[in-house]
Amino acid sequence: MSVTTYLACWIVAGGVSACEPRGGGEPEKTAVADRPRDEKLEAVIAEVDRDCRRRTVYMIGPEKARRLAELVRQKRPGRVVECGTAIGYSGLWIARELKELGRGKLITVEIDPTRAREAEENFRRAGLSEFVEVKVGDATQLLKSIEGPVDFLFLDCNFANYDPCFVAIEDKLADGAPVVADNVGVGAHGTAEYIRRVRSRFNSCIEWFDTDLPWHKRDAMEITSFRILPKEKAPAP
Ligand SMILES: C[S@@+](CC[C@H](N)C(=O)[O-])C[C@H]1O[C@@H](n2cnc3c(N)ncnc32)[C@H](O)[C@@H]1O
Repeated sequence: MSVTTYLACWIVAGGVSACEPRGGGEPEKTAVADRPRDEKLEAVIAEVDRDCRRRTVYMIGPEKARRLAELVRQKRPGRVVECGTAIGYSGLWIARELKELGRGKLITVEIDPTRAREAEENFRRAGLSEFVEVKVGDATQLLKSIEGPVDFLFLDCNFANYDPCFVAIEDKLADGAPVVADNVGVGAHGTAEYIRRVRSRFNSCIEWFDTDLPWHKRDAMEITSFRILPKEKAPAP
């Protein structure tokens, strides 16, 4: 693999377990390169990739998207929620996995209606519409009305929104749901509150990636394994 990734794990507070190392969990049944690809879909992903770079529409890029797709494939989620659609680049990678798994739906939320419409058109051209629903609105509010359980969450909608988005959807997250937060390398300062929250409560790891994006060459994603925590005992009367 041409991309160098670095993994650091944090021991959870008061616990003994750390994050699973890369490639942990269910073994991959079919490597990405071995799978027959839908040429139309691949062409749309390549075109959206080029378009994002040309117009400076910030997107995840192929190095991190490959890892995101791998996590989706391992989890086999029924419902995936993405905060921050832009024009659909990461959504195309997620929905492609759902199509290949033959199950699941991506609900992706974008605040900018023009971008949301463009993403919808990209999903349609890629033949992925039946696996994606695009919602227009502020994810920090809209997430409160999303139906659960949510089996996979991807946060990519401006650093300061990660923590409110997580709080808005926490009670819908399924036990063991992966929560992936993009840009925690370049956005370490802006995502600090979110990072503090997930690392103090769950197994949560940072993974670093070398990227070939025009706007930065190295960045990280935080990968958290959400757990439903036992309710605290009510204080004695
Ligand atoms: C980095 S881009 C998302 C990139 C996309 N996930 C990808 O990799 O292709 C961030 C997007 O979040 C959107 N956004 C910002 N604040 C938001 C909010 N409160 N709710 C929903 N979307 C938001 C922006 O309009 C922008 O399109």
